[in-house]
Amino acid sequence: MTLFDVYPLNNITIVKAKDAYVWDENGVQYLDMYGGHAVISIGHTNPHWVRRIEDQLHKIAFYSNSVKIPIQQELAQKLGKVSGKEDYQLFLCNSGAEANENALKLASFHTGKKKVVAFKKAFHGRTSLAVSATDNPAIIAPVNQTDTIDFLPFNDEAALKTYFQTKGKDVCAVIVEGIQGVGGINVATDSFLQLIRRLCDQHNALFIADEVQCGYGRSGKFFATDHAGVNADIYTMAKGMGNGFPIGGILIAPAIKPKHGMLGTTFGGNQLACAAALAVLEVIAQEDLIEKAKQRGQYLMNRLKTVDGIENVRGRGLMVGFDVPEDLKDLRKNLLYNHNIFTGEAKPNIIRLLPSLTITRKQLDEFLEELKDEISLLRSEQSVQVSDTTEAK
Ligand SMILES: Cc1ncc(COP(=O)(O)O)c(C=O)c1O
Repeated sequence: MTLFDVYPLNNITIVKAKDAYVWDENGVQYLDMYGGHAVISIGHTNPHWVRRIEDQLHKIAFYSNSVKIPIQQELAQKLGKVSGKEDYQLFLCNSGAEANENALKLASFHTGKKKVVAFKKAFHGRTSLAVSATDNPAIIAPVNQTDTIDFLPFNDEAALKTYFQTKGKDVCAVIVEGIQGVGGINVATDSFLQLIRRLCDQHNALFIADEVQCGYGRSGKFFATDHAGVNADIYTMAKGMGNGFPIGGILIAPAIKPKHGMLGTTFGGNQLACAAALAVLEVIAQEDLIEKAKQRGQYLMNRLKTVDGIENVRGRGLMVGFDVPEDLKDLRKNLLYNHNIFTGEAKPNIIRLLPSLTITRKQLDEFLEELKDEISLLRSEQSVQVSDTTEAK
């Protein structure tokens, strides 16, 4: 049997990982500025996380949601405390797409309506409704096509107001990333998020904050939308929540009432996933990682802004992006293959940095030095090529 070939792969096999580094099968060490796709929050193979999962594994890994699972309650308590949303309710699932799917479904159940507002360049996942709310026609199958979702320009307050004037009464939810990830590290303005809050209140619609990538401390606050001083009705979470152990969830405002059978999942909230998620929150709290993400992210962005060649440095905390001009188009590939540094990308020419929240200044300096070296190298190769072609003429 072969694997269904849907991923364009780097020709690298990672066999070992520790904190901000990973190693391939030849023992080559790589600096992970990509955090395994924004998933690594407390460092690869964090010892407390490993121990928590190991201990749980010896007790029980899984039993279904047909019985009491006290570790879910423990997770809800801890999550309430660390996120500051203590009066919210928690529903656990397995991934980011599933979290958004449940959030949208819940908004529709709660309001009895079915129009959803999403934004240009949004990414919300690949399941049915989540992919329909994703602004990428290439990944929307005919079966996912629906007129339920309307896409509006991101950060465009006038467009949002005009839309609500005519269609507001039909809207069950506005779904927004506090910082668009796949879309290229686009930060939602505070006033845009505050307007979403007001319009949702005025029109009996729910504000869904997709915090799958930008949440869980990465932005320098627990949720990226916290920077705007507003509360969403539903927060969706995954990636950093389990530090690589698959788990997702939604935080639900107290006004939204549950009903038996309304939502459900087999694996969501299993004992092993909860142990992993608890370990993450414990380390975040013990090591003050949200504050560290804020400070180190600021340091990284300030230094990046002084690097010649890259453009439009932006982001918040340890969710940072910059544009790469055409003459440096090999930058990301060369960082990986010549400097052993993983970074993320966003089409067409953006580098995304999403390292573990535990990354040190020294490791950031290491990245910055290698980045500058590679830019100089690419530029000097080009000037040699230019002078060669001039001489040939
Ligand atoms: C903002 C956002 N929402 C949802 C998802 C989907 O998460 P998952 O791949 O866990 O389904 C992603 C994944 O990249 C994401 O970045």
